[in-house]
Amino acid sequence: MSVWVSLLTACSTNSEQLVQSSFDFADKQLRILLEESDKVRLAEGKTPVEKPCPRNIEPDGSLRMIAARDWCSGFFPGILWYMYEYTKAPFWETNAKTYTEYLEPLRFYKGTHDLGFMLYCSYGNGFRLTQSDAYKAVLIDGAESLCTRYDSIIGCIKSWDHNKDKWQFPVIIDNMMNLEFLFEVSKITGNNKYKQIAISHANTTMKNHFRPDFSSYHVIDYDTITGAVRNKHTHQGYAHESAWARGQAWGLYGFTMCYRETNDIHYLQQAEHIANFILNHPNLPTDLIPFWDFDAPNIPNEPRDASAAAIIASALYELSTYSPQNEELYREKADIILTNLSNSYRPSLGEMHGFLLHSSTGHWPHQSEINVPIIYADYYYLEALLRKQRLEQKGKLF
Ligand code: GLY
Repeated sequence: MSVWVSLLTACSTNSEQLVQSSFDFADKQLRILLEESDKVRLAEGKTPVEKPCPRNIEPDGSLRMIAARDWCSGFFPGILWYMYEYTKAPFWETNAKTYTEYLEPLRFYKGTHDLGFMLYCSYGNGFRLTQSDAYKAVLIDGAESLCTRYDSIIGCIKSWDHNKDKWQFPVIIDNMMNLEFLFEVSKITGNNKYKQIAISHANTTMKNHFRPDFSSYHVIDYDTITGAVRNKHTHQGYAHESAWARGQAWGLYGFTMCYRETNDIHYLQQAEHIANFILNHPNLPTDLIPFWDFDAPNIPNEPRDASAAAIIASALYELSTYSPQNEELYREKADIILTNLSNSYRPSLGEMHGFLLHSSTGHWPHQSEINVPIIYADYYYLEALLRKQRLEQKGKLF
């Protein structure tokens, strides 16, 4: 065997080992998260319908369980579907179904833009893997509910109903992530309405959310009468003019996905520009796990955000398939992130209530979820591992 063939074989074996050992760990650790969730519900006197999902670890070390209407409720069922996808084990399929179906009432919930996170990560993955008609019906109702938040003068879906004293029509960069749900429902119904709303939202976001260096604002507030931009703010970042790490990750993932769904070259270029901003940022640490905000004042003494890293890795694997000139670079960076998350951001088996990753930062300005495990980091970590495996085995993702 030539040296090159040996090297390639060694690399792909290491790569397969990374995916396999990470899923082996997840297979053990997530059983603990299921048990720990039961224990917390029992102690709180709550049923699984009332508190279906784990979200994060609190400062006192306790596991926080959340209701279906919390924006993070879709990630745990999504994680269970990813476990089933990798293992094909009935244990994970049964749990994925159970935890997905606790979220069924959300199909008629119109109080948030996060229905994509809540219903697409749960029912969307469930439908992809089972083709259940019942799941399809929930997705269609949910997309209808999400569309009630669309305003045709502004061209966007409204993100939040809170802080009415400050904002008229806030749209956050995170909302790019809810569009995948609408694209999917257009495909399953044959009705283009959902796709048109997604495209309008993406175009308006591309126009107003970005600075000349392709970093993004967190919150753009629109005038409900004229549709004009009123404010460019942050909510979870360090400052209005800073680059909140997870926001950059949501934008990268969102525009990459929009290119997949539309073939519109502007979305691809936008995603490449965002990737360039992230990967070449002087404050990006060498292990590629960002600080919670690229402009946080005390870097390097600031908490990291492993969730942003996991989202970026998942997005880069997909973007690598659309960007021939950057294919190698994006895959290499995504591999580095996954290797570092697996080697250095993982609790020991049995620790941290069964979460897969530590060191995510949820909401620094509110001093909540700082440097702790958070459920969406685990979701995008498993998704990125599956994407890595699919790319290596099939050479494509979709
Ligand atoms: N969508 C809220 C967050 O990323 O924290």
